[in-house]
Parts: sequence; structure tokens; C-alpha cells
Amino acid sequence: MSPVIPVSVLLALLTISHLAYARKDIVVHIISRVPKDPTSLQIHCKSKDNNLGMHFLDNGQEFNWTFTPNFIGTTLFFCDFKWGSKFRSFAVYDRRINGYCANLSGFYDCYWEARLDGFYLSKDNHTWEKLNFWT
Ligand SMILES: *[C@@H]1O[C@H](CO)[C@@H](O)[C@H](O)[C@H]1NC(C)=O
Ligand SMILES: *[C@@H]1O[C@H](CO)[C@@H](O)[C@H](O)[C@H]1NC(C)=O
Repeated sequence: MSPVIPVSVLLALLTISHLAYARKDIVVHIISRVPKDPTSLQIHCKSKDNNLGMHFLDNGQEFNWTFTPNFIGTTLFFCDFKWGSKFRSFAVYDRRINGYCANLSGFYDCYWEARLDGFYLSKDNHTWEKLNFWT
């Protein structure tokens, strides 16, 4: 038998899995849990292709965005966080973070809270895990 059939089957499977993957939209939420004094939380989030601009969040306010990660899993968003004299920059979404946020529903959320003592991640806005510190 010619190898043409297995290759076309493989391509069909890749296309199907690509379509299934492409429907998994992700919402990243950045929430301020730091006091307004000395300053509001300043955030600036970007990917290779998107600059989400600079935003100022008071305690309890959130900034969020929705995107579809690429098929090969290299989508990366990072944010610069500034609060008073403190600063931190890290990946708020990448392949590793995806593992924390993923569930089976197809649409899912990554919640980040900036607190006095660091940065916490949750997939349900309820159970939090500390993953980063202020510098
Ligand atoms: C995104 O943030 C806005 C502004 O804080 C809020 O009104 C909206 O409900 C949030 N969207 C989601 C999906 O949480
Ligand atoms: C996350 O939880 C907080 C505190 O319970 C609530 O105020 C907020 O609306 C929730 N956000 C979303 C997007 O569900």
C-alpha cells in the first residue's frame, strides 16, 4: 500500500485536533488586592503580537482579556506590575500556567491576584496558590 493514506489520515486528525484546541478560549484576570497607598497598582501586559496597554487598578478592581492560544502551545503573555517602589515582571500565561488554569469545559479562566506579599493564581477565583513575589 502507498503511504499516502496514512499521511492524509494524520493530516485530518491534526486538523480536527487543531479545531478542537482552537475553541478553548482563555480569560486572564488580573486583580488588585493592594491598597491605593502609596499608589494604585500599575500593570502593562503584552504578548509578542498584542500590547494591552497600561492600566491602573485600585484595590478590588480587575483587568481581563480573552484569547485563543495557538496550536503549538507557544502563546505567552507577560505583565509588568508596579506598586509604589515595588516591581515585578513575569509570564501570566504560558504553557506552564495553562496547566494550572485548565479544566474540561473548553472555556477557562486564569485569575491572578496581586497582594502585599506576592502574586497568587487561581482557576476558580476561590482557591489560590502563591507563584510569584515582588522584587
Ligand atoms: C472583566 O473586567 C471588567 C472590568 O472590571 C468586568 O466588568 C467584567 O465583568 C470582567 N469580565 C469577566 C469575564 O470577568
Ligand atoms: C471573584 O471573586 C471576588 C470575591 O469573591 C468577586 O468579587 C468577583 O466578582 C469574582 N470575579 C469573577 C470574575 O467571578
